[in-house]
Amino acid sequence: MVHRSKITTLTEFIIQRQSEYPHAKGALTRLLNDIATAAKIVNREINAAGLVDILGTVGKENIQGETQKKLDVFANEMFITALKGGGECCAIASEENEKVISFSNEFSELGKYVVAMDPLDGSSNIESNVSIGTIFSIYRRITEAGGGTQQDLLQPGVNLAAAGYVIYGSSTMLVYTTGKGVNGFTLDPSVGIFCLSHPDMKFPESANIYSINEGNYIYFPEGVKRYIKYCQEVDPETLRPYTSRYIGSLVADFHRNLIKGGIFLYPGTTKNPNGKLRLLYECNPIAYIAEQARGKASNGFKRIMTIEPETLHQRAPFYTGPRHMVEKLESFLQEHPE
Ligand code: AHG
Ligand code: MN
Ligand code: MN
Repeated sequence: MVHRSKITTLTEFIIQRQSEYPHAKGALTRLLNDIATAAKIVNREINAAGLVDILGTVGKENIQGETQKKLDVFANEMFITALKGGGECCAIASEENEKVISFSNEFSELGKYVVAMDPLDGSSNIESNVSIGTIFSIYRRITEAGGGTQQDLLQPGVNLAAAGYVIYGSSTMLVYTTGKGVNGFTLDPSVGIFCLSHPDMKFPESANIYSINEGNYIYFPEGVKRYIKYCQEVDPETLRPYTSRYIGSLVADFHRNLIKGGIFLYPGTTKNPNGKLRLLYECNPIAYIAEQARGKASNGFKRIMTIEPETLHQRAPFYTGPRHMVEKLESFLQEHPE
């Protein structure tokens, strides 16, 4: 139950924050609100999924060659509709669409922002009632007029204006940053309001989790193989052996690691040298949150947020977590770069 006197809602929080910027006109506030509204609708559908027989595949493949689930399509449409109608966003790049969706109606083409998103992350987990998410990146547009273009979206993570994720888990949370720390809001489903529940989130100092799909071990670079062995060695001073946790939803794996302390790894492999995760709407937004939470995000050799994107759906090896853990992993990769 919400007790009005004790809570800060997401809307109140972003308006308070915005008042710290005297020149801001509220556009980012409205954009974040549009995303939160779409997330609530997606949340409702996810919760109802078992009831209304929405599960199963639509039969189409997305441009990554993966079968889309019905909820991927639904979530994609919801976020596009909310952002198009909100008037602050002039273009979207989505995992589910090959090309940039440009809004060129007179209302939206005035929008100052563009959004890259993974509308439903971890969708292979839907059938088994495991946590899934939405990930979003918000950039200021570079082009000056008309609908947004690919150029507006191909910006490195260091240019991000805001980023966040929604986790549809045992409770639903929205976690975001605008570069002044990370704050988490839990949805009170009885009233449909996101309430500040996790102010100023940081990775804990003590961390002992590693998260990786170890089934791919044979294909990993030598440095990662050696790091996994390092995680499994006994050294009580560094809390080793670490414990292993892997859900298979980036949002859920990262969120747990942020709260409990752990490193997430999705390496390049001999088959896929750039790994699986997409730079624009998976790696960069999570990297921004990690960095704002006293953590780090790297492709093993380079800060994720400095990679200059060349294509909308490009992938990158991805390692993120508390700074000391990522740096240890990097030292193994640098010693064994092959
Ligand atoms: P999506 O559902 O958006 O395609 O993303 C799935 C991703 C990510 O959430 C997760 O970390 C990774 O795939 C898991 O991949 P593996 O099954 O190869 O471990
Ligand atoms: Mn994903
Ligand atoms: Mn997805």
